[in-house]
Amino acid sequence: MLSNTKLIFLIGFMGTGKSAVGKLLAKKAGFVFVDLDKLIEKEAGLKIPYIFEKYGEAYFRNLEKKAILSLKTMHKAVVATGGGAVLDPLNMTAMKGSGLVIALDANLETLWKRLKTSTKRPLLKVSDPKRRMEDLYYKRRPFYSQAHYIIDTSGKTVNDVAQEILNLLQ
Ligand code: S3P
Repeated sequence: MLSNTKLIFLIGFMGTGKSAVGKLLAKKAGFVFVDLDKLIEKEAGLKIPYIFEKYGEAYFRNLEKKAILSLKTMHKAVVATGGGAVLDPLNMTAMKGSGLVIALDANLETLWKRLKTSTKRPLLKVSDPKRRMEDLYYKRRPFYSQAHYIIDTSGKTVNDVAQEILNLLQ
């Protein structure tokens, strides 16, 4: 399956390890790696927390959609998306139409451990970030479950997960 896969999109909640796994998976598969959030930052010339603060979430989502649509012509790339990239049905249609969509999941305890010290997540800059994380997690689960495959990353290393995906595709 790997040989005829053009693009691999990693989707999933913040803290599920999309970027770390994506980078390693790309290396193992001989694909290039694209970090969608970094691409957005590069195109905009601004950091994501600043985009949220200055222009708001809707503006960011628009940049995110443009970035996803711009990847259609890429070949042999692993793309780590941001946690909210699945919310727009057009994004999901574009990703499923041009590649394989793999969701990374983790239990809430694991996610909180990974996210509680993060300063880069504008959506968690609220008075009760743990509650916010839980609310968002349950709201977004139905979106992540539209992936072709779902991988639980709880208790696994980045290498375990990258290898599991590779095995799945070989
Ligand atoms: C977001 C997740 C972030 C980033 C932005 C919005 C979200 O990416 O795209 O802060 O809506 O879940 P990560 O999933 O890499 O943290």
